[in-house]
Amino acid sequence: MCGIVGYIGDRPATEVCVAGLRRLEYRGYDSAGIAVAENGGLEIVKVVGKLDGLAEALAENPLSGTMGIGHTRWATHGKPSEVNSHPHTSMDGRIAVVHNGIIENYADLRDSLQEEGYEFASETDTEVIAHLVDKYYKGDLAAAFRRAVKDLEGAFALGIVCADDPDQMVAARRFSPLVVGIGDGENFIASDMGAVREWTDRVYVIDDDEMAVLTRHDIVLTDLDGNPIEHEPYQIPWPADAAEKGGHKHFMHKEIHEQPSAMRECLLGRLTDADSPIKLDGLNMTEDEIRGLRKIVFTACGTAYHAGLVGRFLMEKLARVPAECDLAAELRARDPVVLEDTLAIVVSQSGETADTLVALRELKDKGAKVVSVVNTVDSSIARESDGVVYIQAGPEIGVASTKAYTLQLLTLTMMATHFAAVRGTANEEDLRDLRASMLGVPEQTQELIDREDDIREVASKYYEAPDAFYLARGVNVPSALEGALKLKEISYIHAEGYSAGEMKHGPIALIEPNLFTVAIAVEGEVYEKMIGNIQEVKARSGPVVAVAMDGDAEITRQADDVLWIPECPELISPITAAIPLQLLAYHISDMLGREIDQPRNLAKTVTVE
Ligand code: F6R
Repeated sequence: MCGIVGYIGDRPATEVCVAGLRRLEYRGYDSAGIAVAENGGLEIVKVVGKLDGLAEALAENPLSGTMGIGHTRWATHGKPSEVNSHPHTSMDGRIAVVHNGIIENYADLRDSLQEEGYEFASETDTEVIAHLVDKYYKGDLAAAFRRAVKDLEGAFALGIVCADDPDQMVAARRFSPLVVGIGDGENFIASDMGAVREWTDRVYVIDDDEMAVLTRHDIVLTDLDGNPIEHEPYQIPWPADAAEKGGHKHFMHKEIHEQPSAMRECLLGRLTDADSPIKLDGLNMTEDEIRGLRKIVFTACGTAYHAGLVGRFLMEKLARVPAECDLAAELRARDPVVLEDTLAIVVSQSGETADTLVALRELKDKGAKVVSVVNTVDSSIARESDGVVYIQAGPEIGVASTKAYTLQLLTLTMMATHFAAVRGTANEEDLRDLRASMLGVPEQTQELIDREDDIREVASKYYEAPDAFYLARGVNVPSALEGALKLKEISYIHAEGYSAGEMKHGPIALIEPNLFTVAIAVEGEVYEKMIGNIQEVKARSGPVVAVAMDGDAEITRQADDVLWIPECPELISPITAAIPLQLLAYHISDMLGREIDQPRNLAKTVTVE
């Protein structure tokens, strides 16, 4: 993981780098550091912990240099400590490197560099890069880097500066994301475009095995052998303030509240009225291809995986295509069978998750057509897919995914409804009903957000509980998994999501008054069975919070508390049920005083396998 930034221009580099790093802190916050060209050398400042510490250190000892690189770290090799923080430098301190990724052959490189007399200060894999560039440096930083990179195996997005050349910065990428921001008399590098959006709305999105040499007035793009390449500048579509908190206490809270408008954006131009077909530009599939599908394989990680599970359910139920859903990190191990006419649907908010990217490549190599459902435009996963349906959520900064999840669900529901219509596998009246319900989802979501006070009240009853169960059946089993994930990742309360049908096969032994159960019991095929499960929990003195549809009188007799959602078809309910579950997790965590936007040990974008 980790985030990198770099600046070359005429402003103090620390200001630009610290502001850029703030936008990247979601990528890790174990330590932060900066290197600035100043007085003929490089000044390095590093702190363990969050960026605020770096900002304080820089306020005490300001630096005025106008070229610098910065880093926010999620530790992979070596514990979070000052010495392991980036930037890492050559022994004489004249070359500095910031790195996101993992150098897989670092141990061998380190051994041979040590034999040549290089001394290492840190336990990191990154430090070998600084020494390698130093080894090959003969007065031309870019040439030294091109030589050094031939020795590297693994993943990297790199920013490199050299004290002997304060007018040049080198950046390169293999497998980890990198953009170059295009300014006027100033240029930038960063792990994502959000980090440079404050200063520019034009970037080059760098591909694998490409590098950039930046001066104040020029950007030269080449491959790693130095052959020139060309990229069209990408115009960032969102405004500079899209990544601000906008009066909310946390980004997560802001992003929960943004869901109605984001959903409208997501539907725009795709689903206009209940009677018209859904149009998914970017899907890149002909109707014949959709009709000819023999299998769909979903793959993703974490919250996106839960969205994939809902997608699998909908594709089988509506479009009648055999479907499976794999955790991306496990897909390769299973060596999945890819039949002719297999479609892979890859789900990712960031579009940069390493496991998901590896799974995508595996499926592509095996002959699957790949369509990704992605938020970040022009991300690696988007670019490597045959088709992309963007969820249009805008930047998601809070580490816990919220709006991306519901928009992934909305997008997958549109896809399944579209496939069913093309394949003629579902009743047209049911499909019409689904389309009408999807159009109503933004308004229903707003209604749910307006009920936040009721949810906060329920949170106040349970926030001190040590454990929680989330139960559901059918299309909402992933809602239970996602509800539990939201709670555990931001509150640190132990929470498990289960199919309610599994309870009697073991987990019910854990029920006792201190463990609360969230039971998703919406009207539909599995409602009666869910009522049975609630009764089983209640019979063992376990408190129950139900998620149920407005007007359900029965549920008030069964559950201790109810989080109400507006009526909708069961197949749509994973979208609306997610909202009270997000708010419940949020308010419980807020009552516990947790660092909601940056939970411990986590990073938003997991760019290592
Ligand atoms: C949890 C969460 C993670 C991500 C997962 C995949 O709230 O955000 O579980 O869903 O790391 O990330 P993307 O969607 O960027 O591939």
